[in-house]
Amino acid sequence: MHNIWRGKKNLTALAPMADYTDSPFCRICREIASKPFIAFREMVSSEAIIRGNEKTFKMCEFNKIERPIVIQIFGAEPKNIAEAANAICEKYKPDGIDINMGCPVPKISGKVLAGAALMKNHNKAVEIVRILKKINLGVPVSVKTRLGWSKEDEILTFAPKLEEAGADAITIHGRTKIQGYAGQANWKMIGEVKKIISIPVIANGDIKSAEDIKKCLEITGADGVMIGRGALGNPWIFKNDEYEITNQELINTVLRHARLHLERYGERGIVTFRKHLAWYFKGDRIVGIKNVKKLKAELMKINLLEELKKILQTQISV
Ligand SMILES: Cc1cc2nc3c(=O)[nH]c(=O)nc-3n(C[C@H](O)[C@H](O)[C@H](O)COP(=O)(O)O)c2cc1C
Repeated sequence: MHNIWRGKKNLTALAPMADYTDSPFCRICREIASKPFIAFREMVSSEAIIRGNEKTFKMCEFNKIERPIVIQIFGAEPKNIAEAANAICEKYKPDGIDINMGCPVPKISGKVLAGAALMKNHNKAVEIVRILKKINLGVPVSVKTRLGWSKEDEILTFAPKLEEAGADAITIHGRTKIQGYAGQANWKMIGEVKKIISIPVIANGDIKSAEDIKKCLEITGADGVMIGRGALGNPWIFKNDEYEITNQELINTVLRHARLHLERYGERGIVTFRKHLAWYFKGDRIVGIKNVKKLKAELMKINLLEELKKILQTQISV
């Protein structure tokens, strides 16, 4: 088995983000990344896969340029997750399968007892990893989780159980389920986990710059970092060190991303591309824009790629 997690140091990973880390965005990040890089795709439902839901299958498609690609599955029933993982591996041959054990959204952690709910049911979580290892998918099986459901040190008992069950790597978002996205990610606690298990540990939460990557690796001693929101509208975070983009580069990347997005979703896809535009033009990263407010307002109304091109070319000085 080719194990993408083995022998990697200072790895950077794109976090799985529903509605964002689709094929076009993973491809953009891959093209820009100059550090060791793994892209995680947005989570897919094991139940939808075994029902043969076409839309869910399509969410797993990728271009081989995006490799290494990890597909994340959420679910609660070990057998169903195994069946779904098998179907995905047979059809798409990703480089890894990841199990979501951290999602706090009520639809997932409340109703179906998947995602973060698995942190309250260690036996079920262990059973999931065991069965996935047993059916021998031919790719590594990793887990993405949080520090705990309500206490930050729950991970100190959970992570060793996942390792023992055979997990090939673990990503830890430095917050509890109860915290949601509030407060500051606790990188120190991730460091405590790193000390007690020997599979690769990937640290996640609040990494927004090259400096954060360095600091997080230092504090956690982790094998890599995973970046979510810090990569939205900022794929350059996967480049070496603090990288200053030019306005021309920004325009080129936005337009390339938009074209890939339209190839994937069709002409109407420009409407769902607006969410990426909001991130590309968030904050004050871009200098030389004549009227930022006007630019943003116009971008949120575009209906055609040509309109996007025109707005960028006329309102941003290069
Ligand atoms: C819009 C959005 C969608 C997300 N979707 C997923 C998902 O599908 N699976 C998952 O494990 N985590 C998901 N997360 C959590 C992120 O992967 C990550 O753990 C979290 O955002 C913290 O990292 P960050 O501070 O770098 O963003 C999502 C987060 C956001 C903001």
